[in-house]
Amino acid sequence: MQNTPQSDFKATLKAMQQRVEDSIEALLPPANLRPAVLHEAMRYSMKAGGKRLRPVLVMAGQSLFPNTNDPMHAAVAVECLHTYTLIHDDLPCMDDSDLRRGKPTCLKQFDEETALLAGDSLLTYAFYLLAKGYGKTIPQIAISLVEDLARSSGSEKLIGGQMEDLLGERTNERTAEKLEYIHHNKTAELILASLVMGVRLTGADEKKIALATEVGRTMGLAFQAIDDILDATSTAEQLGKPAGNDEKLNKLTVVSLFGLEAARKRARELSEKAIATAQELGGDNAFLIELIRSMEKRVS
Ligand code: IPE
Ligand code: IPE
Ligand code: MG
Ligand code: MG
Ligand code: MG
Repeated sequence: MQNTPQSDFKATLKAMQQRVEDSIEALLPPANLRPAVLHEAMRYSMKAGGKRLRPVLVMAGQSLFPNTNDPMHAAVAVECLHTYTLIHDDLPCMDDSDLRRGKPTCLKQFDEETALLAGDSLLTYAFYLLAKGYGKTIPQIAISLVEDLARSSGSEKLIGGQMEDLLGERTNERTAEKLEYIHHNKTAELILASLVMGVRLTGADEKKIALATEVGRTMGLAFQAIDDILDATSTAEQLGKPAGNDEKLNKLTVVSLFGLEAARKRARELSEKAIATAQELGGDNAFLIELIRSMEKRVS
């Protein structure tokens, strides 16, 4: 049977996700390392599954232009950073969730203290992986990778977005500007950093970095719009995490602000914009473009 472009994309994505799983297994501290419960908890959340979008974006970025750098330390680093944000996002003081990636959350499987520390440890480990993976071999690029990840995950970006997401639960001031700030920072920043870090590994110039930033930003905004839509329309079984949580917590989301139809329209438009910019970015971009498309159509 002839392979269609769609089946090619799916097979490539699956192979990349498998490479991420193997690299997580190889690069994380062993589960029996003292204190074993902490390393078990780090591995539990990292190996619980998930779409692996951010590491796949690092790999997709790295394969856009010719180079021989291995993306896997950076890929696992962004997944460590992302998983820490999920562990902390699920804590009782945040979104208070029992289910994540189809399994009990870290805090349910272990306890709150262990979940907090497993999150802290994954955050630190992300930067260790960047230094270890690239510091000696490509020091100039390594510094840029550290800067990209630190910037996108800091108080003005990812954590700032989480802060305003929580503040949003308690205010009646629900504006498009606030929603944009939350989506951009809590979600789009790490997604754009993942793609940019991959592109950095190619030694690309600043023009390409700027285009990759724009692709990641618009893709990330579409991604969070879909996340909000799925929370409002899907089931916990399908999502592997609680559904209807946003309404329960009075979150400011694209659905609560604009309604479902406008939310879908927004996700579609952002996604198309990301694809147009990916075309402009050029290189070997067929996989990246399909990835953006698939994330708009995702059901979990
Ligand atoms: C969930 O991210 C948190 C958001 C930023 C919306 P993902 O939907 O990528 O979660 P996993 O990694 O697949 O579990
Ligand atoms: C989470 O946003 C964003 C981060 C963890 C940085 P959500 O709270 O919407 O993510 P889910 O829906 O719990 O995955
Ligand atoms: Mg949250
Ligand atoms: Mg949440
Ligand atoms: Mg959500």
